[in-house]
Parts: sequence; C-alpha cells; structure tokens
Amino acid sequence: RHHILSLADFTPEEYNTVLQTAASFKEVLSRRTKKVPSLQGQVVTNLFFEPSTRTRSSFEIAAKRLSADILNFAASSSSLTKGETILDTAKTYLALGTDIMVIRHRESGVPQAIAAEMDRLGKRVGVLNAGDGQHEHPSQALLDLFTICTLLNPDAPKCELLAGKKIAIVGDILHSRVARSNIWSLTASGAEVHLAAPPTLLPPEFAQYVGSAERLKIHWEIEPALDKADFVMTLRLQKERMSQHLLPSLREYHQLFGMTRDRLRLCQPDVKILHPGPVNRGVEISSDLMDDPAFSLISEQVTSGVAVRMALLYLMGSSSKIGGTG
Ligand code: CP
Repeated sequence: RHHILSLADFTPEEYNTVLQTAASFKEVLSRRTKKVPSLQGQVVTNLFFEPSTRTRSSFEIAAKRLSADILNFAASSSSLTKGETILDTAKTYLALGTDIMVIRHRESGVPQAIAAEMDRLGKRVGVLNAGDGQHEHPSQALLDLFTICTLLNPDAPKCELLAGKKIAIVGDILHSRVARSNIWSLTASGAEVHLAAPPTLLPPEFAQYVGSAERLKIHWEIEPALDKADFVMTLRLQKERMSQHLLPSLREYHQLFGMTRDRLRLCQPDVKILHPGPVNRGVEISSDLMDDPAFSLISEQVTSGVAVRMALLYLMGSSSKIGGTG
C-alpha cells in the first residue's frame, strides 16, 4: 500500500509485517549508531495543520534515523495564512520533491483528499494519516499494538498474542480518532475490546458505526470494562472539541471514569495502563498512577513510536511491502 490512511482494511499479515519491521528498527535504535541508510535521498514532509508534540517529533526523528531528508511545515508560519489552499500546499511540497507526506488536520478526510489528488496526478507519493479529525490515527494504534505485543513477547511481537486478551478503552470515545483506529487493530488481532464512557461521550450507535460488534462491548460505567482487564487504554477528554459546559465536568469525570489506584483492583493483577497523550493529569488518570512504571506504559508508547514510524516510512518508501492502495 503506498498510502496509510486507515486501519479498517488492514490484515493480520500487514499488522505482523509492521510489528516485525518495527522490532528490527527497535534493535537498530538500541545500537550506538542508530542510523541506517534505508531512505537516503528520499524526502519526507511533515504537513501538520493541527498541533502535535509526539507524532510530529517522532516522525521527524524516525525519518532522520532512516537517513531521509525531512521538511517540516507549520500552518501558522506558512502561505496558508495568505490564502493558499491545502491542495496547493500539498502540490507545492510535491514540486519540492516530497516522496512521503505525513499529514495531520483537525478535519476528518484531509489526508484522504490529498492522497486522491496525488493519485489523480499520477504521482507515486505516499500519504500517511497522522490524525484526521475524529476519524483515525493509524500510526498511534500501530505503536499501541507494538507496545502491547512487545510486552507479551519481546523477541517476536505478533498480533495473535492479543487473542482472548481483554482491553478496556475508557474516556472521550466520541471525539477519539485513536479509539477508532485501535478498535480496528485490536479486534482484528483477536482481543475483546470494552469501551467505557459517559453517554455524552459514547453514543449508542457507535457499535453500529464500528461494525465489529462481536468483539466490541459498550459500557456507560467503567467497572464492567475494567473487570479482569489485561490492558486499559485511557483517553484524553478533548475539551477543544466540546461545548463550553462539559457534562460530566472534569471533576465528575474523574470521579466516575478516572483511572485510579483504587480501580486497579478490578483489573488483572498485572494490568498495564496506556494513554496516547497528551494527558490531562488527574482527570482521565491519577497523576501518581501515570508515573508508576509498574503499571504505566505511557513513556514506553512514546519510545515505541519511533521504531513503529521508522517501520511505516520504510515500508512505504521501499515499494509495496504492505497491502494495496488504501
Ligand atoms: N498521541 C498524539 O497524537 O499526540 P500528539 O498530539 O502530541 O502528536
């Protein structure tokens, strides 16, 4: 596949290709010299129309470790401010020699629209969705999968390791592109996925929308989702996408759905907690739990992001090692 826009049609074989490639780059990153020449001469452009810390920086370091040249676009200091369109911006970076575009936008569908335009022009540019609106964030879900599978088997991370594992996804599911991508990857890997959120942040039609109901359960309380859970993914309350008066309020949310030390008792004794970041400390997870390495995989997720994004750029940059054109 020369674009990575969604995980909806990813196969277990493709997940395993990404996991195995990321595992070999993780080994490279543990060496003294962390750089390989795989993408020498290729240009990777970070087109971020919405703020980011982790995704943007880890794509940048991943591209540098692969010896690619990297261009970083920032909307606020670009000619977008003079009225240039998104498509003309993308075509400008194409004319500058871009081979892979990594795109984030606050609206769903922007990376897909740019990919379609590149295809229409007959250009072999790879487009990678780095988070579009409330739609998907494929590289985040892939690094979450890598983090979990590496914990289960550091030598051979494979998606089948998730078969029968219970994974709770708790928080603002309504606005979460991370949840949507994770639902695809985790259910395809054989995990049982339990979503928990207040009704205002998890509309009942969500199960239908996802269309993978058998391995997907919906709860309006946190307790059944945490019951004997192997992994708990906490999600940020996306205040910027909500109306001014939150229901529940942040304090009420923490009381009802916050991941706390007390609530760990409901889960498996060796449960691990994930969060894609950025975190509202003391809202979706208590501050001390977030920093407790016995339970928290949050730093590990950020570190995994580099190896996984190296794998994605490598696989996109060196012909069609994964899938079709989606
Ligand atoms: N998880 C994530 O997408 O974080 P950033 O917004 O910092 O990139």
